[in-house]
Amino acid sequence: MKVVRSIEELRDQLRGQLRVAFVPTMGNLHAAHLSLMAMAHQHGDPVVASIFVNRLQFGPNEDFDKYPRTLQQDIDKLQQQNTVYVLFAPTEAEMYPEPQKYRVNPPHDLGDILEGHFRPGFFVGVSTVVLKLFSCVQPRVAVFGKKDYQQLMIVRHMCRQFALPTDIVAHETVRDPDGLAMSSRNRFLSEAERKEAPRLYRVLNEVRERLRAGEIDTPAVEHDAQRELAAAGWQVDYVSVRRQIDLKAPDAGQVAGGEPLVVLAAAKLGTTRLIDNLEI
Ligand code: PAF
Repeated sequence: MKVVRSIEELRDQLRGQLRVAFVPTMGNLHAAHLSLMAMAHQHGDPVVASIFVNRLQFGPNEDFDKYPRTLQQDIDKLQQQNTVYVLFAPTEAEMYPEPQKYRVNPPHDLGDILEGHFRPGFFVGVSTVVLKLFSCVQPRVAVFGKKDYQQLMIVRHMCRQFALPTDIVAHETVRDPDGLAMSSRNRFLSEAERKEAPRLYRVLNEVRERLRAGEIDTPAVEHDAQRELAAAGWQVDYVSVRRQIDLKAPDAGQVAGGEPLVVLAAAKLGTTRLIDNLEI
């Protein structure tokens, strides 16, 4: 695996490659990331990964400085897996040599709801860096995890609207045996919080079961889910049932009619904010 730090070196390494499969990450790699790399390998060759903690997608009170940076351990893991051909790990000066004034603004009805509501500017930062990374790597295919469901939708939408020649492939959420979705932020959980954390997934499953059983009053189901989390000490941002197609809230007729839905949640345990979702 070659580790390249500059866009020029990256382009040299990838010259003439037409089937690049790309996995963008912010590093602190765990089993879920390695699974994305393996999936990328099924969809293209060579596999290129990136590690870049993107300042643009962090709000002023968020954990940009605290975000775990473990480049050498990440390189070791990728080398052991032996799937990635080039790791692009640009410095901030390389990605943003001058203030990034051009930004990609997702449409409000997709970018300012759910995560975008609680993290203003988040999807502008994500879309901008993903477009820039795609411009550097020029992938034929890119793999994104479903844990970041809204991000996956927005990236897909962006590719469609800009006619980018990159197919977006979705990878199922990878979970620990107790159901907790793998995330770099799980490392911030105390021992007691780690024990409590799988409740988020259990609550999502309860929502799914109730809707599958025929309940159509989604606000009531969401309310119960939020109450259960709050009673267990969580600070809930949202538990929300949405349509898979556009993340709009379904009406009762659509729920009854079998519209494909997804329940998405974000909540804080102590100082750690976790997100998860489940398709219905
Ligand atoms: O999902 C992530 O890790 C990030 O949002 C991404 C896509 C690498 C952009 O910084």
